[in-house]
Amino acid sequence: MKTMQPLQLSRMRYDRKLPISSLGIVLLMLMSLASITSSCTEQEKASLLKFLTGLSQDGGLAASWQNGTDCITWEGITCNMDGTVTDVLLASKGLQGYISPTLGSLAGLLRLNLSNNMLSSGLPQELVSSNSIVAIDISFNRLDGELHGVPSSTPVRPLKVLNISSNLFAGQFPSSTWGGMKHLVALNASNNSFTGQLPTHFCTSFPSLVVLDLSYNRFRGSIPPELGSCSMLRVLKVGHNNLSGTLPDELVNATSLEFLSFPRNGLQGILQDTYIAKLTFLVTLDLGENNFSGNIPESIGHLKRLEELYF
Ligand SMILES: *[C@@H]1O[C@H](CO)[C@@H](O)[C@H](O)[C@H]1NC(C)=O
Ligand SMILES: *[C@@H]1O[C@H](CO)[C@@H](O)[C@H](O)[C@H]1NC(C)=O
Ligand SMILES: *[C@@H]1O[C@H](CO)[C@@H](O)[C@H](O)[C@H]1NC(C)=O
Ligand SMILES: *[C@@H]1O[C@H](CO)[C@@H](O)[C@H](O)[C@H]1NC(C)=O
Ligand SMILES: *[C@@H]1O[C@H](CO)[C@@H](O)[C@H](O)[C@H]1NC(C)=O
Ligand SMILES: *[C@@H]1O[C@H](CO)[C@@H](O)[C@H](O)[C@H]1NC(C)=O
Repeated sequence: MKTMQPLQLSRMRYDRKLPISSLGIVLLMLMSLASITSSCTEQEKASLLKFLTGLSQDGGLAASWQNGTDCITWEGITCNMDGTVTDVLLASKGLQGYISPTLGSLAGLLRLNLSNNMLSSGLPQELVSSNSIVAIDISFNRLDGELHGVPSSTPVRPLKVLNISSNLFAGQFPSSTWGGMKHLVALNASNNSFTGQLPTHFCTSFPSLVVLDLSYNRFRGSIPPELGSCSMLRVLKVGHNNLSGTLPDELVNATSLEFLSFPRNGLQGILQDTYIAKLTFLVTLDLGENNFSGNIPESIGHLKRLEELYF
């Protein structure tokens, strides 16, 4: 008898929901009507087919990417109600070859996800400086070469998320020459082979930056004090590099920090007692495998949100 009641209850909820789901069906019908009347343009198809041509292994895409059909039906492609291509989502499809710059000319493209394939050669500048793209994820590929900045005269671009992690990118990181990236929220460049000093002008170039992951690279030199001016920054991961020197005093000015992680570098110095306690939002602090000396600051006990601590 005890089990009867929940059963009846859930049936009641189901009945109550019925009018909402029939409304949903009507909406769906309206939406499919709209997609009958609008389809992607010849120009969009041409851009996508150029991308297909650049692939030496297409993971079976060619079966649905047929010129004679509306590209809303193509595998990995999403369009809006006007038939404009908004998403190219082709993660883990076994793709090989290069990324055609023509994807940058899809005028309504918002999200490009090519994560976890075997794509090689570089990241076309046309994608980073696109007038429409908000998120690019090309992580876990074999892309290489240097990352090129965007001229400082470039008008503001909509890009919010750029994940180039786990590739073979190398060379210096071009932060001081990124113009127009005022909306960038997350930059993930971890697990590449970037060298040189950490750029000092991250938060001048990217004033909206919340997530910065530069771990697993070959950055050397000290932590730039300018990172302290990253007022929005919540996640900073720079572990597994060759950084040296001390933690700059200014870093505690980045008071939004929740996740601060510098393990496996050559950092040193004494952590002053009042220092870390200024970062009151810290949830994770990882300073392990460095050369810090002195006592563990007592004030760490005042960090009310702290959940993980590694020395
Ligand atoms: C696709 O079809 C259009 C119109 O029939 C044609 O102009 C265009 O050349 C075709 N593109 C390719 C890549 O075959
Ligand atoms: C890209 O797709 C992968 C696999 O589905 C997913 O884990 C990842 O979060 C996506 N990237 C973005 C930026 O949404
Ligand atoms: C790439 O990084 C972005 C931003 O940190 C994240 O949203 C996305 O999930 C990551 N992709 C994968 C495959 O982990
Ligand atoms: C960066 O991307 C990697 C995948 O390569 C992912 O494991 C990691 O969580 C991402 N970092 C952040 C801060 O999102
Ligand atoms: C770095 O990238 C390689 C190659 O994609 C991958 O096998 C490895 O797991 C990644 N390491 C980390 C720490 O993300
Ligand atoms: C940043 O930190 C330094 C050293 O702790 C301090 O002197 C300076 O006033 C701070 N700047 C801002 C803008 O808060």
